[in-house]
Amino acid sequence: MKNDTFLRALLRQPTPYTPVWIMRQAGRYLPEYNETRRRAGSFLDLAKNPDYATEVTLQPLARFNLDAAILFSDILTIPDAMGLGLYFAEGEGPKFERPLREEWEIRNLGVPDPAEHLRYVLDAVAQIRRSLNGEVPLIGFSGSPYTLACYMVEGGASSDFRTIKTMLYDRPDLLHHLLQVNANAVTAYLNAQIEAGAQAVMIFDTWGGSLSAAAYREFSLDYLQRIVAGLIRERDGQRVPSIVFTKGGGLWLEDIAAIGCDALGLDWTCDIGVARARVGGKVALQGNLDPMTLFSQPDSIREQVGRVLASYGEGSGHVFNLGHGVSQFTPPAHVGALVDAVHELSARYHATT
Ligand code: CP3
Repeated sequence: MKNDTFLRALLRQPTPYTPVWIMRQAGRYLPEYNETRRRAGSFLDLAKNPDYATEVTLQPLARFNLDAAILFSDILTIPDAMGLGLYFAEGEGPKFERPLREEWEIRNLGVPDPAEHLRYVLDAVAQIRRSLNGEVPLIGFSGSPYTLACYMVEGGASSDFRTIKTMLYDRPDLLHHLLQVNANAVTAYLNAQIEAGAQAVMIFDTWGGSLSAAAYREFSLDYLQRIVAGLIRERDGQRVPSIVFTKGGGLWLEDIAAIGCDALGLDWTCDIGVARARVGGKVALQGNLDPMTLFSQPDSIREQVGRVLASYGEGSGHVFNLGHGVSQFTPPAHVGALVDAVHELSARYHATT
């Protein structure tokens, strides 16, 4: 591989600079993405067509000096493959035609066979990997069992998670059943992505941080641990590192670092230097610039990048990223300013050997 800094940093091996990629780097802030989406017809037509998915995955890499590519897809492909009927209502985000409301619906859920029901994702992974031609590594991903369950039970986005939390407190047995099905599905899906060519995997636990500490451990972290334990560790003689990102999980970093993953994603509310002191001996860290920083001027972006790098300090084990996805209203040139600032300012924190 020509540039393996991303994989090396995840394994806390030396690199000449801090690698960087951006959550949602292929997306609506890029005019070329919007153009491809228009041609495809809709987000789902884009994501379900391996040619289009490959095209948009590569778009941010053509513009910026990114150190990793991430598969263009969505976390909600799994519940869609389970038959819930994913659709996107304009301006309302993701929704399901058949959210899980009745006990029998949950009891009847099956684990989708990735090779059959998620073939289009695996085809996209293989095609992207070929197109990358060894330039940078490819990240595969999935949602966490709890985050997927939030969408499956609520039927879409929610501001208070009233429906799933009612289930959590009234019928923990039923939620546990759903989470175990999801965990089996996620494990099979991530392993299929690894076999198709993904060189690292990330699990997005976007809504784990909405839980109490005790509920987080019981309903999110425990299933993350089971998934990590079931992942393919090595492929073609290379370690396949895993990254777990619980948004809002800053209070629980020690617990998350103990589940066996290689890296933790951090949102922007954490001081990355403090996080490193807490868990840096066990895992690499990925993050954690506030995405809203990108609305400020390039000089300010550079200053804020410098602060995150200085807070992490000397040595390897840091993958630079935002603390959450890039906003669709971000000026693309500001993403370029971030990427260049990371590369320029980080070299001094890596010993030259
Ligand atoms: O990072 C990347 O570039 C890879 C692609 C990616 C997408 N979704 C593409 C996408 C990834 C990694 C995701 C993950 C995802 N999807 C998460 C976890 C990460 C996070 O942001 O917390 C979640 C919660 C989802 C569910 C989802 N899908 C939401 C909330 C939305 C946004 C709805 C909206 O209209 O704002 C989507 C749609 C989606 N997924 C878009 C993209 C580029 C925008 C859809 C479009 O083009 O219209």
